[in-house]
Amino acid sequence: MDNKKRKISIIGSTGSIGRQALEVIEKLEDKFEIIALAGGHNKELLQKQADKFKPKYTCLGEDGLEKICSDKENDIILVACSGKIGLRPTLTAIKNGIDIALANKETLVMAGDIVMSEAKRHNVNIIPVDSEHCAIHQCIKDITQVNKLIITASGGPFLHKSIEDMKNATVEQALAHPRWNMGKKITVDSATLMNKGLEIIEAHHLFGFDYEKIDVVVHPQSIVHSAIEYVDGSVIAQIGLPSMHIPIQYAITYPERFEGIKSKSFSFADIARLDFEKPDYKKFPTVELAYNMGKTGGTATVCMNAANEEAVFAFLDGKIKLYNIFEITEKMCAEHEVIQNPSIEDIFDVDEQIRVKTREYIAKFWN
Ligand SMILES: NC(=O)c1ccc[n+]([C@@H]2O[C@H](COP(=O)([O-])OP(=O)(O)OC[C@H]3O[C@@H](n4cnc5c(N)ncnc54)[C@H](OP(=O)(O)O)[C@@H]3O)[C@@H](O)[C@H]2O)c1
Repeated sequence: MDNKKRKISIIGSTGSIGRQALEVIEKLEDKFEIIALAGGHNKELLQKQADKFKPKYTCLGEDGLEKICSDKENDIILVACSGKIGLRPTLTAIKNGIDIALANKETLVMAGDIVMSEAKRHNVNIIPVDSEHCAIHQCIKDITQVNKLIITASGGPFLHKSIEDMKNATVEQALAHPRWNMGKKITVDSATLMNKGLEIIEAHHLFGFDYEKIDVVVHPQSIVHSAIEYVDGSVIAQIGLPSMHIPIQYAITYPERFEGIKSKSFSFADIARLDFEKPDYKKFPTVELAYNMGKTGGTATVCMNAANEEAVFAFLDGKIKLYNIFEITEKMCAEHEVIQNPSIEDIFDVDEQIRVKTREYIAKFWN
């Protein structure tokens, strides 16, 4: 970043990532100018943000997102909305040559091949915000010398609970994440470890690694955010306190670094221990499902993402139990006829069909 202020828009400014991004920007106010802020439904908060940060314009709901992402005044857009809403605006921004700080993992899970090839074609940087991918991004110097990626997982609230406990889990228990304070959808995904499944697929697209070369290790303290192993056996890990402010700041100021909201707070002496263990794929079958769907490719991951998201909403509505999320998602994936090399319209069609099918299935058996 030169002396010029970086012009930024935030899609999902009213959400967990969006609010933290504004805290980062407030601390670095001389470095940024906000072009637009966009929220979903929280009009009141969006108005408060607009009063404080004085963007050129704001938008509520999906309608204005294309306009924001076509505005070439933006140097970078932080895509921090939840779910499938992130995909179209991300593609629009890429086509307009605007760099992306990407929090919305569904964008790559649904259309990673298309998004990454468009980014390459338009010479656009996609900087990951997800702490694991941000960690890997920071560790990699020469990608050709990297042997494998090692993604860490906190293990969520049920790490050391029995399968029975998980089967009887309440919404409150599933939302009580021990380390991270996030939106509800991603918090439930963290409880089932589907979040790790989505991140494996995200990593495959972002860094171009085969699934065999992406490992997952459980690390309950969430201090090691992920690591890479070089061909010579050296392992480089990125560590830091479990705060999303740090990866958000990294992504929106890349390639520069500044003293920010969470600087100077890390102390090795305060970290008593770091534990690592193998994930229990029997208890958390979502991870294996994600590996399988990722390897299948095409619309398999679109199906998995859509079915999972609908099942998570049904769980949050009290219609199904936590473990049903996996059973429903697996069934939808098993029945899905995969389209290889789908167009973006194929992707949205499959997404919609699977959502309808999942909702009907839940209504039939759980109402
Ligand atoms: N939270 C984390 O720590 C974290 C970490 C890594 C990755 N991520 C990823 O980042 C994304 C956002 O996560 P989050 O935890 O910040 O979610 P969140 O708190 O639920 O926030 C979602 C944001 O999307 C907006 N939104 C919802 N529906 C919309 C619509 N129809 N049109 C426009 N905007 C809409 C929401 O607006 P309203 O609130 O105004 O409705 C809100 O600003 C997800 O893809 C998640 O997987 C999150």
